[in-house]
Amino acid sequence: MITAEDPTRLGRELRRRYTAADLGVLTRDELSHFAPHGDGDPQADVTLAWELLYRLEPELYDRLVSAERLHPRVLGWLPRDVDTIVEIGAGAGRLTLELIGRAREVVAIEPAMPLRQILTRKLGDADHGDRARVVHGFFDDLPVASGFADLVVACSAFTPAPGHGGEAGLSEMERVCRPGGCVAIIWPNHLDWLAAHGYEYVRFEGPMAAGFASHQEAVELARIFYPRAAAEVRRLGRRRVPYEVLGINPPRDLAFKRVPR
Ligand SMILES: C[S@@+](CC[C@H](N)C(=O)[O-])C[C@H]1O[C@@H](n2cnc3c(N)ncnc32)[C@H](O)[C@@H]1O
Repeated sequence: MITAEDPTRLGRELRRRYTAADLGVLTRDELSHFAPHGDGDPQADVTLAWELLYRLEPELYDRLVSAERLHPRVLGWLPRDVDTIVEIGAGAGRLTLELIGRAREVVAIEPAMPLRQILTRKLGDADHGDRARVVHGFFDDLPVASGFADLVVACSAFTPAPGHGGEAGLSEMERVCRPGGCVAIIWPNHLDWLAAHGYEYVRFEGPMAAGFASHQEAVELARIFYPRAAAEVRRLGRRRVPYEVLGINPPRDLAFKRVPR
């Protein structure tokens, strides 16, 4: 999973983009999750730099995730015909757009307003887009009734850190899942932590490449997000870049728990 905490993304380039002065873009709730001690510095804390990216340059972030598509078998593993789905940390909708044809109602929860706006725009253009509700919220206080969803899912968003899920967030995901339903964490990190919380693990094999819009886009985004791979991405001269070259784990796995009846 690629998250703000992934060491391969502890990139100086992303941290250099923002300063403590940019923290003014965060709401009080966001500050309490992402810089709880009041001394946040995105130049030192890449997790915070990612949060600023979502709010200050959401289209840049969307270009990145548009290239990092999920393994088709991850999508194949998810249920196809359920009543209700809750997705948390929906972002610009990489997974949400795959979910809307599978349920009568999808609740897409996302704290960053600029990403909610991009997702709302995409849903407006998509078949079954009207089945999704985009709402504000955080893992640790989900605005959804207990037992509401057949599937509760997060993709590249949940971590054990309290500001990005943690114990409280996992409890909340399980609370809103109906008995017999499934909680799934796609592209997980901290597998041991999840296993200790009763989560099983599935990983799908096969070659995977990020598919950028063009070679020029691959070079531009690599400079920011995969700086150590930037020279090789330029040399390859291709739009599709294997994850081995980028130096990150591909989005090919998930952890899940079936909530007891
Ligand atoms: C790496 S992005 C992934 C977005 C999307 N799920 C995807 O796969 O493209 C992480 C997302 O988690 C959201 N997020 C961060 N902290 C959160 C929290 N405490 N509760 C809910 N969402 C959170 C971010 O705003 C961001 O949209």
